[in-house]
Amino acid sequence: MKILMVCLGNICRSPLAEGIMKTKVPENFVIDSAGTISMHEGEHPDKRAIQTAANHGIDISRQRSRPVTRADFETFDKMYCMDIDVYADVVSKAENATERRKVALFLETVGDHKNAEVPDPYWGDMKDFEDVFQLLEKGCNAIIEQILK
Ligand code: 4NP
Repeated sequence: MKILMVCLGNICRSPLAEGIMKTKVPENFVIDSAGTISMHEGEHPDKRAIQTAANHGIDISRQRSRPVTRADFETFDKMYCMDIDVYADVVSKAENATERRKVALFLETVGDHKNAEVPDPYWGDMKDFEDVFQLLEKGCNAIIEQILK
């Protein structure tokens, strides 16, 4: 199973989702992340994201931001998008029904968060990053449960 986590800049939400998911999946899974904009390409995650992950014993400091590419639609089985704008952007790049089916809203598997978005913590503070971490953990658990059942 190959899973891509997608947000806008690939420096806050999706790097955290990648880091969290990697702690939960079997070794043969491939987990990666990307952004819909290339503005932060090559950069490590936001310092606050790195610190928040570290507070939970997860090291995301070596990740580097990269934009979503067409090749991702071939490589990955699922592309989980952090919010509606990201979802719309990614799905617009899909070229057929098979590719479109791979694109999902990250929180759609969490029952009480149906259609909900993972809020962007970029303009917020450490509390916002911690709240996002908790939400991402919930989402990753729901995704794993759905995949492994
Ligand atoms: P992310 O957060 O999509 O969770 O990585 C953001 C990162 C950068 C920007 C916006 C959101 N930005 O405008 O540069």
